[in-house]
Amino acid sequence: MAENFDVVIIGGGPAGYAAALYGASAGLNIALIEKSKVGGTCLHVGCVPAKELLETAAVRRAIVGSSMFGLTTSEPILDFTVTQARKQEVIDGLFGGLSGLLKRRKVTMFDGIGTLHAGHVVKISGGASGDVEVTGTHVILASGSVPRTIPGFEVDGNRVITSDELLSLQELPKSAVVIGGGAIGCEFASMMSDLGTEVTILEALPKILPGCDDDITKIVLKSFKDRGINVRTGVSVNGHEPRKSGGTTVKFGDGETIEVDTVVVSVGRRPLSENLGLEGTAVQVSERGHVVVDPWCRTGEPGVYAAGDLIATPALAHIGFAEGILVIQDILGEDPIPVDYGNVPWCIYCHPEVSFVGHSEASAKEAGIEIVVSKHRYSGNGRALILGEPEGMVKVIAEKRPDGTAGRLIGVHMVGPWVTEQLGQAYLAVNWEATADDVAKFIQPHPTLSELFGESVLALTGRSLHG
Ligand code: NAI
Repeated sequence: MAENFDVVIIGGGPAGYAAALYGASAGLNIALIEKSKVGGTCLHVGCVPAKELLETAAVRRAIVGSSMFGLTTSEPILDFTVTQARKQEVIDGLFGGLSGLLKRRKVTMFDGIGTLHAGHVVKISGGASGDVEVTGTHVILASGSVPRTIPGFEVDGNRVITSDELLSLQELPKSAVVIGGGAIGCEFASMMSDLGTEVTILEALPKILPGCDDDITKIVLKSFKDRGINVRTGVSVNGHEPRKSGGTTVKFGDGETIEVDTVVVSVGRRPLSENLGLEGTAVQVSERGHVVVDPWCRTGEPGVYAAGDLIATPALAHIGFAEGILVIQDILGEDPIPVDYGNVPWCIYCHPEVSFVGHSEASAKEAGIEIVVSKHRYSGNGRALILGEPEGMVKVIAEKRPDGTAGRLIGVHMVGPWVTEQLGQAYLAVNWEATADDVAKFIQPHPTLSELFGESVLALTGRSLHG
């Protein structure tokens, strides 16, 4: 007899392990199947290692910029093997913590590949747990995603790599082309450039960071250009020719070429749905490979859910967490409110950092919403000047009331120092459906970077202090 669990989860990334931890804390008997290591892409080859390497770049920038504080230093020398060892220590610490937590919550772990069959049967094979069959009263598919690749740029781990390989390099290339100027491309371009690599971004669309507000993108673009990153937008790539002496020649645009050591392909991620079995079930997979779900993450098969990068929602770890929690609440019959995907927090950790929630100016206009906009720059903010980081802005977008004044806040966009840590109150304000008047009343501590958000909202009331 196959052992039955309240919930069987396939995939131990943020969506899967959040569902496991949250479900176990609610008293459910949970099985979690993982083919590699719990923590998934986010912990092992995504968010965590990427941000760790970006922090190395930030430390280097701080040392190089320390002369303005009267400190004399010599040119910092990077030993990337030490950087990598520290990165691994951070990952190992978090991995140990997560594994311990799952154990303490009595989540039953299986090591192998899980496939779903008719009747909520899940077969596990190919790992340390051997061939096992379990059943779940409920099943959650959370097998995540892998980097997308493009024809003509087959990944060889040397000349052509994706985020998977880049995050483990023992030495950075002297020169690199980054194909794709999305979140991953911009974070890697920023990190590599700050650590001494000559970087060119080749982006097919007319702008980098296509989902961001135009005012924000312009500031990132200016900083990238000032720091020597070559940004080419609106160009297509047409393959590459490896050089005998190492490196390769990338062909792009209208007959242009560039010689580099390494090509980093960051053109998005695709859902990993092909090894989930699913025969004999009513689970549907879209043409792009996403498992099809309703707003509660329910698939077409009753009692079977899907969450995280496997479904067509923003491919962000914290969205995976939110969906994992939502699914468990639905299983518990708590009638949860679906995730409001238009108002989730976005954080991009390139330098300068970017964060946002809700409508951009362009998307609000496209949606036919009359808006009022308030923009303030960090160059007028005391803390930013103290830090020596005056570059950046906060942009608040509010609905325009019939009398022309600002009403509900519908979008906040930030670029500049530590904005990924400043988005929280903007995120709450937008999702709490607060108006400019509501938020303007609250006090911001001084001197802080977050005063700029307060100042930008205050200005929407028609009165202001510094702005
Ligand atoms: P993305 O979809 O955000 O960006 C890919 C970029 O590549 C787009 O700008 C696209 O126009 C461009 N592109 C596609 N094909 C191209 C081609 N042949 N030539 C040139 N440009 C091409 O994907 P990305 O950056 O790889 O990230 C994958 C996922 O991971 C996204 O969903 C992203 O939101 C998420 N992510 C989020 C992070 C964050 O929020 N800090 C960090 C890393 C990833």
